[in-house]
Amino acid sequence: MDITRQGFAVTKKQVLIGRRHFLLGMGSFVGTDALAIASRYGHGKNPIQVTAQKSRDFSVAENTPLRNRAAAKGLIYGAATQTSILRSDTKFATRFAQECAMLVPENELKWKMLRPSLNSFDFTRSDWLANFASKNNMFFRGHTLVWHKSLPEWFKARVNSQNAEQIMLKHITTVVKHYAGKIHSWDVVNEAVFPEHGRADYLRNTPWLKFLGPNYIDFAFRVAAQADPKALLVYNDYGLEHSTPNDEAKRTAVLKLLERLKSKGTPVQALGIQAHLEGEAPFNTKKLRAFLKDVADMGLKIMITELDVADNMLPKNVLVRDRLIAGIYEDFLSVVLDEKAVIAVLTWGLSDRYTWLRDRKSRKDSASVRPLPLNAHMERKLAWYAIARAFDKAPKRGF
Ligand code: GLA
Repeated sequence: MDITRQGFAVTKKQVLIGRRHFLLGMGSFVGTDALAIASRYGHGKNPIQVTAQKSRDFSVAENTPLRNRAAAKGLIYGAATQTSILRSDTKFATRFAQECAMLVPENELKWKMLRPSLNSFDFTRSDWLANFASKNNMFFRGHTLVWHKSLPEWFKARVNSQNAEQIMLKHITTVVKHYAGKIHSWDVVNEAVFPEHGRADYLRNTPWLKFLGPNYIDFAFRVAAQADPKALLVYNDYGLEHSTPNDEAKRTAVLKLLERLKSKGTPVQALGIQAHLEGEAPFNTKKLRAFLKDVADMGLKIMITELDVADNMLPKNVLVRDRLIAGIYEDFLSVVLDEKAVIAVLTWGLSDRYTWLRDRKSRKDSASVRPLPLNAHMERKLAWYAIARAFDKAPKRGF
């Protein structure tokens, strides 16, 4: 096999890495075409099989970065990152600017970082990121205005049903106006749906719900639309991707919420699908397609906002693991990008060196996790190739 012609790499160094990777890969699969891994999502005697095919081709034609591949199809590719990472790691910052056309602050726009006290805002870190994005010709996106997590220490003591509406109004107005004209989209409300809490409207029990009732979602969107009529306003949530009972219930519940909002004239314009995928969880292509279509039929755009693949349940062997992860990226994105309402794909981080999954979903064998497109040395992994292939195959959007 000629790795160069397969387009694995263009520089000499990368060609060598590609060849080594391929050859070692062959060695680890001797005699079988597929390695099957039982997933905990199967039940009883029928475990679901996750398959890593050694013969699967992840090659691409050019060395072109993801941002250009996406742009060629009228799509945006970007990633989440942090001020402290970009400032301290110049290699990462350079790679980030090469690959990404959109930057989303991982934490800097959450209340905990932005609101040192009830009466103050600290935009220092988020402004630094907005500036980095603008200097590098990237879109900047906002995450997130209303969420039940990452609230500051003072929140509990100071916010109550009497003042919550005023506090939310001031927060959204101040923050959204601060970035008006400079921001692509806002995650106005994050993770408001949680069927497990047992409410008839499937909403999550959060401080905002407790203080303001279910209309807090509509209120947040209206305030955001007034503060910046141009930003795309997004409802963002997780657990919408797999064919597990929880994700099934979540898809139904999110559709119900979006229908309710639309029928009230709430200015929600897009659904953010977080897509924190689990390496061993099953997909049902038909159901995923149908869900995306239902959302698109409501006149909403769709953004994949926090894509990564947790590999804590996958085999330790890096070659097998990378192949499985890449397969998941390409399979998921191929379905998703077929839906023309999808306008952007963001990964939650860019390099395995900086990922929340290192702490959140670490491996029992203590091997490093590998959920993102670049490895810890900022080199492209099979996951990068898989994403590139999905962009290359995606139908072109109108400009
Ligand atoms: C959720 C949030 C993100 C981030 C991730 C994990 O998906 O929307 O802001 O906190 O969890 O870190």
